[in-house]
Amino acid sequence: MTLDAIKSFLGNDWIRTESLIRSSLASDIELLNRTNEAILSHSGKQLRPLVSLLVARACSGGLATEDSIRFAAASELLHNATLLHDDVADSSPRRRGVPTVMFLLGGRASVLIGDFWLVKALGNVLASSREDNEVIGIFAQTLYYLAEGEMLQLQKAETGDTDEDAYLRIIYSKTASLFETTAVSAALSVNASEEQIAAARHYAVNLGIAFQIKDDIFDYSDDQAIGKPVGVDLDEQKITLPLLGALSRVEAPVAASIREKIVHIHEREAYKREIMSFVHENGGIEYATAQLNEYVARAIRALDAFPESEEKRYLIQIAEFTADRKV
Ligand code: IPE
Ligand code: IPE
Ligand code: MG
Ligand code: MG
Repeated sequence: MTLDAIKSFLGNDWIRTESLIRSSLASDIELLNRTNEAILSHSGKQLRPLVSLLVARACSGGLATEDSIRFAAASELLHNATLLHDDVADSSPRRRGVPTVMFLLGGRASVLIGDFWLVKALGNVLASSREDNEVIGIFAQTLYYLAEGEMLQLQKAETGDTDEDAYLRIIYSKTASLFETTAVSAALSVNASEEQIAAARHYAVNLGIAFQIKDDIFDYSDDQAIGKPVGVDLDEQKITLPLLGALSRVEAPVAASIREKIVHIHEREAYKREIMSFVHENGGIEYATAQLNEYVARAIRALDAFPESEEKRYLIQIAEFTADRKV
């Protein structure tokens, strides 16, 4: 499966979503326009609006509404906003194979442009024809989770005591909650039934968790094709699932000494290499991959609630892609 095949399948709904994303960002400030164009020309996988439109159409027998287009655009605008902010938090020089806004224009510009994209996302939600505030409420809740998730991650980087519960809370908050909002808002855009909304939510939360586990596995590879730096989570003192898996397989004193090294990762150059080897030698990647596959399977099972359709088949393929993807 290629994501391009899904875009072709979505046809006019996809074209309208991309065009709404672009037109939402128009500004007469030249630096802002130029930077937005540069971001849009390396648009990434655009997975969230694809999930959004597929869910809306799976719930409605193939008919997206104006609101479906607005909410799909909002999900991608918000996603990009979080990346513009995240690259400041992680001081990251590369994304999507090109230098970040953070690298080119600095943290101030990256935060401000992230704010711009975030507000434009909310603008699209506010333009909805719905009379209640339900959708704005769920987008707002995701923003709150995002901030909490990033803060918990920072707190845990200091203390070095991340366990699997904390890890899952962090990745739900910073990644899966946006997938959840993407899918639930899409279902609401076509007035889906309670049962369909619950299934869409269940699919998206499991997909989002799987998606971040895969991202965290990437960080332990040495693949340049991913388009962003690898091996950086340890620099940030982030304890992710591959490391938790390896830690679970050793005696308590060994685990404690590894955690101690993470908290002091910048004090000795050898620490990072040691921890990388520790993860690979103690089955950390296999452990995380097994969990990744389990979340993918749960996401796919959640779709049982939907009747067979081309949209449902593509949602299944997106879940499988999450595990197999190379970027
Ligand atoms: C990157 O998301 C941030 C995470 C949640 C891991 P994507 O991998 O979807 O980023 P792009 O938009 O395709 O670059
Ligand atoms: C995901 O975490 C960040 C957001 C959800 C904004 P990461 O920090 O792992 O994402 P990448 O690896 O920089 O894309
Ligand atoms: Mg990052
Ligand atoms: Mg990452």
